Amino acid sequence: MTTTAAKPRFDKGLANTIASESAMSWIDGQEGVLEYVGIDIDALARNSTFEETVFLLWRRKLPTAGELEAFSALIRGEYALPEPMWDIIRGVPADAGPMHAVRTLVSALALFDPEADDPSLEANERKGIRLLARTPSLIANFDRHRNGRDFIKPDKSLDVASSFLAMLNGERPTETMAKALDVCLILHADHGFNASTFAGLVTISTLSDMYSAVTTAIGTLKGPLHGGANEAVMHLLDEIGGIDKVEPFIRAKLDRKEKVMGFGHRVYKAYDPRATYLKTFAKKLAEDTGNQGLYEMSNRIEQIMHEAVGSKGIHPNVDFYSATTYYSIGLAIDLFTPMFVMSRIAGWVGHCIEQLSDNRLIRPRCEYIGPHQQPYVPIADR
Ligand code: ACO
Repeated sequence: MTTTAAKPRFDKGLANTIASESAMSWIDGQEGVLEYVGIDIDALARNSTFEETVFLLWRRKLPTAGELEAFSALIRGEYALPEPMWDIIRGVPADAGPMHAVRTLVSALALFDPEADDPSLEANERKGIRLLARTPSLIANFDRHRNGRDFIKPDKSLDVASSFLAMLNGERPTETMAKALDVCLILHADHGFNASTFAGLVTISTLSDMYSAVTTAIGTLKGPLHGGANEAVMHLLDEIGGIDKVEPFIRAKLDRKEKVMGFGHRVYKAYDPRATYLKTFAKKLAEDTGNQGLYEMSNRIEQIMHEAVGSKGIHPNVDFYSATTYYSIGLAIDLFTPMFVMSRIAGWVGHCIEQLSDNRLIRPRCEYIGPHQQPYVPIADR
């Protein structure tokens, strides 16, 4: 008996393919809306904290005060790195790119987790908490290592953002800086089936493990068309060099048909709602930290882009104003994308657990366009 299946449709870049269902985040690309579990991203950025947002994404409801306290304690209880990890951080070349370092170090965490290959839901949730809790220590202490500074252990009395900044800088952050990073962590925590989430889901759908899935996702986030765009934006601002040079620079770039980093989005054809909030936030932070010039240049780029390509639905995305925000917090440019990792672990883990609750191997087809029925020519006759 032969079975006939409908011929799959070719969809370049999977732009019009719905690959799965999710109850975590909802995006309306035409109207510029993003909700986590039905709550508008703007309300979360204004009122929530990163820990509370992770609870919302993973448990699909806002926590009560008691639940939030218990959840935060769970995360802080897993801050400490397994002892051998300190030597592994020391072993990473000081001149390695931080995204290579974080991808390698997150992968190495699996070596010291006795539950690494336990596929149960409970173990996967515990691994998710560990990944979320330990990645900030890996990033901050890799930065200390490459700058020849002593390691600093995470501080359980602090939340994720503050503990990270305290390790990175060797002193407790001001409330403004801690809040700024916390807001960025909220805004980047989840975003549907973006490229890195999808890559992680392909890995988990083979019934591999959570560390492998998150490592896959980190490698995917690194690219400048995805999470790496925030660093590319900062390099762009550096390269332009001054507000009076913005217009000729950007117009020449567009004439050469080059992409301007931090603009455009596969789903948003209206203003990315994460950028709406970050823009106001970045302005205030830049004023407070003496980086107004940077903000003004960004704003000017936005104006030129609006005139030139706004009608095509090209607007700033989350990476555009996060660059100015991270710079104002005082982060090294090559730490911008690792900040995205710290946050997006929430989304990656949540989606992996969702996938496993109703798993089917993710395995699309490709359209073969090569020749058929070719003779095998012996090597001597070729
Ligand atoms: N600058 C100038 N023009 C752009 C830009 C941009 N940043 N982005 C898209 N366009 C133009 C394209 O040239 C194309 O024009 P055309 O129809 O005249 O040929 C049209 O808009 C459609 O662009 P595509 O590249 O086909 O859109 P796609 O959905 O494939 O790509 C992407 C989306 C990759 C984000 C793209 O907009 C881009 O490269 N942006 C710059 C990198 C960036 O900021 N990435 C971060 C995205 S957000 C995130 O990952 C967190």
